[in-house]
Amino acid sequence: MNTDAALRERAARVIPGGLWGHMRVQGLPAGYPQFFTRAEGCRLWDADGREFIDFMCSWGPVVLGHHDAEVEAAADAQSRLGDTMNGPAPVLVELAEHLTSIVAHADWTLFAKNGSDATTICVTTARAATGRRKLLVARGAYHGAAPWCTPNPVGVTAEDRVHLVPYRYNDSASLEQAAQQCDGDLAGVLASAFRNDYGVDQELPTREFAQAMRALCDRTGAALILDEVRAGGRLDLAGSWEHLGVRPDLAAWSKAIANGHALAAVTGNDRFRSAAASIFVTGSFWCGAVAMAAALATLRKLQAVDGIAHMRAMGQRLRAGLARQAAAHGFGIRQSGPPQMPMLLFDNDPDAALGSAFCALALEQGVYLHPKHNMFLSVAHRPQDIDQALDATDRAFAALARR
Ligand SMILES: Cc1ncc(COP(=O)(O)O)c(C=O)c1O
Repeated sequence: MNTDAALRERAARVIPGGLWGHMRVQGLPAGYPQFFTRAEGCRLWDADGREFIDFMCSWGPVVLGHHDAEVEAAADAQSRLGDTMNGPAPVLVELAEHLTSIVAHADWTLFAKNGSDATTICVTTARAATGRRKLLVARGAYHGAAPWCTPNPVGVTAEDRVHLVPYRYNDSASLEQAAQQCDGDLAGVLASAFRNDYGVDQELPTREFAQAMRALCDRTGAALILDEVRAGGRLDLAGSWEHLGVRPDLAAWSKAIANGHALAAVTGNDRFRSAAASIFVTGSFWCGAVAMAAALATLRKLQAVDGIAHMRAMGQRLRAGLARQAAAHGFGIRQSGPPQMPMLLFDNDPDAALGSAFCALALEQGVYLHPKHNMFLSVAHRPQDIDQALDATDRAFAALARR
C-alpha cells in the first residue's frame, strides 16, 4: 500500500467520508492522490513523492505560484510582529486602501476569510440596504457552501433558499422574467464573472447581458453583486466586467487575492456603505494580519509583473498545444473559458469518461489536470513548464488513442 492509500485509510476512520468538500478525491479518476506534502512554483508533490505540473493551483488561490518568495517574506515579517490580536494591524487599512484604489467600482472594502463569507456578506448587505428579500441567481452557478447557496442542500432547510429566483446566465430575457416574479421585493442580482459551472463549457458574459443586468438593478434599486471569488485576480484586477463597461454595486473576492493565504474581501460603492456598516458580520480570524500582508504583496506583484497578461499568454500556449495534439491524435475537444482559467472537454463524452481517462493518463505523465472543472494558470508557469506539460499530454493523447 502506498502512503496516500495508507493516509486515506486512516482518514476514513477519523474524518467523516475521509474528507469533506471540493477537495475530496472521490470525484476524480483513480490514481489521483488525495494528499500532498510540498508545493513550489507551478509544481506539487504528493505523499508518495510523485511530482506534478499543477494546473489546479489549489482550485484558484495560488496565482503567483506556490510558496512565492516575496509573498512569504511579507507574511513572515508580519507573523513576527503579530497575526490574530485584539484588533487588526495597520496593514488592514493599507490593504483596504489598496483594494479600494485598484478595484474600479470600490469606495470601500471589508475583509473575511472565505469566498462563501464574501458572497454571503454581499447578499446580507443588499438585503439590509434595500429592505427586500429576493435574489436572482444563475442556474448551476456556485457561490459557496453557506445554507443559502450550497449546491448540495442536504441538512439545509427549504426556507433558507425560498427567496432565490433562478435565471439563465447570458440570457437577459430570463433575467427579466425572474425579476418580474419578485414583485417589488428584489434585493440583489448575483452573477459570476463568467459562467464557470461544473462539467459544462464555460461562457464569457456578453456585453448585452451585463448591461441588461446593470439596467435592471438601476431600474429596481436592487444591488448588482459580482462574484469575483474564482476569477478575481486572473481577468482584471479593476473588475472582471470593466471591459464590458459594467460596474457592480458589491463584489465578492477571495481565492487569488493572497496567493494561498486565507482571505476574502467585499468591495462596494457608496450607495451600500451604510448598509455594510450596519450588519453584524465577523469571525475570530477575520482580522488576521498575516494574510493581509500576503495579500498586499500578492496584489502589488501581480501588477508589477503584469501577471494577468502572462497567465493569459501561458494559457494560450497550452490551449494551442492541446488543440494541435487532439487533432493529430483524432480527438474532438472543446476548450472554453478565458485561457488563464481553461476548461477542457471532449466531444461526445457526456459523462466525461474520455476526459477522465485522458486526465488519468496525463497524471501518470506528471501533469495535474481536471476533467470536469475549470483549471488555473499561475504566474509561475513559464513557457518551458507549458512545453514540458505538452510533451506529457501528447503521450497521454497517444496512449488514449491506443485504447
Ligand atoms: C465563484 C465562486 N464563488 C464562491 C466560492 C466560495 O468560496 P470558498 O470556497 O472560499 O468559500 C467559490 C469557490 O470555489 C467560487 O468559485
